Amino acid sequence: MSFCRRIRRLVFWMKLLAVTQGRAPLQSIAAARSLVSGSPVITVIEIGVFKGDTAVGLARVIKASGAAIRYYGLDLFEDKDAFFAAHTEDRAQYDTADYPYWEFTSGEHTYARVREKVHTVMSAQECTLIRGDSTKTLPDLAARLGLRPDLVYIDGCHDRDVVEMDWGNVGNLARVGTDLVVVFDDYLSDGVAAVVDVISSDSRWRLYWLNANQVAVVSVRAPLVSRVTIWSTAFAVRSLSSRPALRATVQSTISILRTLRRVFRRSS
Ligand SMILES: C[S@@+](CC[C@H](N)C(=O)[O-])C[C@H]1O[C@@H](n2cnc3c(N)ncnc32)[C@H](O)[C@@H]1O
Repeated sequence: MSFCRRIRRLVFWMKLLAVTQGRAPLQSIAAARSLVSGSPVITVIEIGVFKGDTAVGLARVIKASGAAIRYYGLDLFEDKDAFFAAHTEDRAQYDTADYPYWEFTSGEHTYARVREKVHTVMSAQECTLIRGDSTKTLPDLAARLGLRPDLVYIDGCHDRDVVEMDWGNVGNLARVGTDLVVVFDDYLSDGVAAVVDVISSDSRWRLYWLNANQVAVVSVRAPLVSRVTIWSTAFAVRSLSSRPALRATVQSTISILRTLRRVFRRSS
């Protein structure tokens, strides 16, 4: 391998390590996906937007990596009560004293409030919020736009039948062989675990665990560089979160390299 190629490869891995620094696992995956994408626009679908905080984080990370974002957020918003009447188990996860963030009473999850929040980081062209049941709105969206997303985050209703339908729609949308990364949240809930366990025994997909609760799924036919990147990111995310000493070392190395780069740029 030539010297230049080695340096380029080293820079790539350093960048990868840098983007996982201090970021949530999903954001690290989004940054890694942007890093290997040849496209200047990263298309993201989030199933289950809630208060829009993940949408904001994703937009910041993707834009910081130099790409543009096209974000589609699917949620029930104000239509939640009709849906949850038939999904009482999932509804029971909200408005409990144990997890104060997961509440509907403040109105922070409403369409208008979420729209206001996401528009602080994305323009109307960059961001589309779609109200309704994802098992219906996702196929509609795909049919209308012929969408080829780069990243899908499945985090809506966690009941098995709904997760199965969401995954089926995402799988159809992507078609096996594309470079799509799908991240499932809440593996610790039975419905998500049941679907992810079926995918894990399907030889068409590879699973990369980000932590005990989140897993990234990539087609075995995705380009090797994408799969290696996601594998490395998942590995870095897991290692850095479980080893504070390693995290501190990586953080110091990265800040030294950043300082050196600034000095080098100033002097050249
Ligand atoms: C766990 S929260 C999502 C959290 C969000 N992804 C985040 O990271 O902040 C789940 C959200 O999915 C929504 N939801 C539940 N079932 C849905 C469905 N069938 N279609 C669309 N959204 C759904 C709920 O209203 C809730 O806002």
